Amino acid sequence: MKVLVVGSGGREHTLCWKIAQSQKVKKVYCAPGNGGTRHVAENVGIKANDIEGLLEFALKTKIDLTVVGPEEPLVLGIVDKFQEKGLKIFGPDKKCARLEGSKSYAKEFMKKYDIPTAKYETCYSFQEAFNALNSFSYPLVIKADGLCAGKGVEIVDTKEDALRILEEVLVSKKFGEQGSKVVIEEFLEGTEMSLLCFVTQNTIIPMESAKDYKKIYEGDLGPNTGGVGAFSPSPLLTNELDKRIREEVLDRIEYGLHRENLSFKGILYVGLMIVEGKPKVLEFNVRFGDPETEVLIPRLESDIVELFEKTIDSSLKSSDIKWSQQSCITVVLTSEGYPGEFNKGFEIHIDDSLDKDIILFHNGTRYEKGRLLTDGGRVLSVTALSNSLKEAREKVFSNINRISFEGKCYRRDIGE
Ligand code: AMP
Ligand code: GLY
Repeated sequence: MKVLVVGSGGREHTLCWKIAQSQKVKKVYCAPGNGGTRHVAENVGIKANDIEGLLEFALKTKIDLTVVGPEEPLVLGIVDKFQEKGLKIFGPDKKCARLEGSKSYAKEFMKKYDIPTAKYETCYSFQEAFNALNSFSYPLVIKADGLCAGKGVEIVDTKEDALRILEEVLVSKKFGEQGSKVVIEEFLEGTEMSLLCFVTQNTIIPMESAKDYKKIYEGDLGPNTGGVGAFSPSPLLTNELDKRIREEVLDRIEYGLHRENLSFKGILYVGLMIVEGKPKVLEFNVRFGDPETEVLIPRLESDIVELFEKTIDSSLKSSDIKWSQQSCITVVLTSEGYPGEFNKGFEIHIDDSLDKDIILFHNGTRYEKGRLLTDGGRVLSVTALSNSLKEAREKVFSNINRISFEGKCYRRDIGE
C-alpha cells in the first residue's frame, strides 16, 4: 500500500513512524512533513490546507490510504472531497468536523444531549457579550468560535481583561471570521485529561488515557500552549471514573451522533476536566492530539493501518486495539518565547551519545543543505517507553542535554 499522511508536526511524524512499521505498507508520503518525517516517509511539498493539491497528488500517485493529522483540512472538507473521487481517507467528514470547527456548535451538541460541560453563552456581538458577562463570575473563559490555531481561548480574571479580549475578537476581528461569535464559559477547576477515541460509524472505542501539559511553565503556570509534554497511561483514570466517562459522556455522544444523523468515522478527542471526580467536557477535537499521539502510538501494539481500514469499513472492535503495558512519556523542547513570538532557523545538534531507545519525534524542524534547523515553537518531542513512568522519565531527562539548539526550553516537571 501507499499511504499519505497530511500534516507537518510531531503527531504526523509519529503517525508516519507507526504506519511505516505496518506489513501492509510499501511507501509512506508526508505532506508537507518536516525534518523528522523524512526518515520514515517521503516529504511532498504540498501544504496541509491545499485540498486540491493533495487530491491531485493522491490521484496521480495512486495513494491507497490518506490519513489526516490536523483539524484545518478536516474542517475544510478534505474527507468529502477525497471520497467523491473514490479515494480512501481516514478522518471525519465536514459535517462531523464541525464538532471541532465551531465551539458554539459543540456546546449546543453537549447541551442537547446532556453531556456534562461548563455553563456557557454564545454571543454574536460585543454588546451581547458585554451583557452576558454579568451572568458569570471571575475567572471566566472566552473562546472564539472557529479555528484559531490554538490561540482562541483566553482565561480572564477581571472584567477589564474580558472587555479587552471581547473587543479584540468581536470588534477588531483579531481572528477574522473565525471570531464572528464567541462562547463565554464558566471556569472549571480540576485536572485535565485527554481521551482519544476511535469512532467507527458513531461507535466510540476509547484509547488508553493520556495526560497533556498545556501550560508553558513548570507548576502549570503561564499561558496555554498546544501542549509541551505528555505521558500515558494517566493514573487519574480509575475504574470508577472510566465508568462515569462511558455512561455520562461517551454513550451520550454516541446517541447524539445518531440523532443528528452524523456518520462519524475517525478520531474523536474528548478534552475533559475532572472536577471532584466527575468528568466535564471542555472541548471536542476531531483528530489525534499533539503531543498525546507521541505517547499513545508508541504503546500501540496493533497494526495502525489495519485499525484505520477497519474504522473506515465500520468493522473495528475494541479487541482489535492492543496496548503495551509500558508507560510512555514525552517532553517537548520548545523555542524560547513560545507560545508568543520566537525565532527559528537555529541549527539543532543531536549528540551521537543519545540513547538508542530514545524516540525523537520532530514537531517543528526542517532539513536544509545537510543541516537540521528549528522551524516552530515546538521543536522536538523526546520520548521514551519503559516499565514504569519513573523509569521512562529518567531516560528522557538524562538525554535532553544531548540535544542542543539556541533558545532551547522545556519543562522539568513533566511526569513528576
Ligand atoms: P479548549 O480548546 O476549549 O480545550 O481550550 C483550551 C484550554 O483552555 C483547555 O485545554 C483548558 O486548559 C482551558 N480551558 C478551556 N475551557 C475551560 C474551562 N471552562 N475552564 C477551565 N479551563 C478551560
Ligand atoms: N494537545 C492538545 C491538542 O492536540 O489539541
